[in-house]
Amino acid sequence: MALDSLFLHETKKRMISELLDKYINENSSEEDNNLKELYRETQLKVLMPHMCSGHLQGQLLYLLSKISRCKNILEIGTFTGYATICMAKGMLENGIVDTIDINRELEDVCQKYFEKCGVKEQIRMHIGKATEIIPTLDKKYDLVFIDADKANYAIYFDLVFDKVSAGGLIIADNILWKGEVVNEKKSKDCEAMHQYNLKIKNDSRVESIILSLRDGLNIARKK
Ligand SMILES: C[S@@+](CC[C@H](N)C(=O)[O-])C[C@H]1O[C@@H](n2cnc3c(N)ncnc32)[C@H](O)[C@@H]1O
Repeated sequence: MALDSLFLHETKKRMISELLDKYINENSSEEDNNLKELYRETQLKVLMPHMCSGHLQGQLLYLLSKISRCKNILEIGTFTGYATICMAKGMLENGIVDTIDINRELEDVCQKYFEKCGVKEQIRMHIGKATEIIPTLDKKYDLVFIDADKANYAIYFDLVFDKVSAGGLIIADNILWKGEVVNEKKSKDCEAMHQYNLKIKNDSRVESIILSLRDGLNIARKK
């Protein structure tokens, strides 16, 4: 294809994709006002704000937590707590979300919005390295959301597997790595995402699907 028509083709593709994103946003359930505020505060005040789940992914996690009637949830990678709140809102009353982050500086903003969103009592924040904290958690989880350092995704899966109830979900974020997973040459983090996807596909103990929502989610259900 000539360069100028390739450019037009790509521009048109991008415009369609932006219009579709807008359509999907406008025609899914409205974002809660406190979550809107948290998203905005994250964008304005926190380093690497793109890491925040945001409305559509948050809404999916909320619905999965609700449909699965989750009682115990584990999140690896809290950041500013957007997904934590969505999952807590979806779970059964008296359910608990254990959420782990290595960065203590994010705790204040998290606690502020846990309170504002009325889910403070349902969330236990654990500060430290996930590989050290997970083995100390003695519970069965209905849903695990893996969303921290990419190199450790496979290790997190192995560490949590026996703690997940039969029928429980293990959801991993960023597994398409902005589309880079299809490239022959991959960055280190992208290769880790690719290896994670292969590992899940080849694990007969789970059934799974990859969704291309946002940066890609790998959803595995323990048989
Ligand atoms: C992509 S953000 C999480 C986004 C959040 N789940 C959301 O949906 O908005 C990744 C987080 O993982 C944390 N993290 C990175 N390495 C970690 C580790 N080894 N143990 C625990 N947390 C870690 C980072 O501090 C960061 O806040």
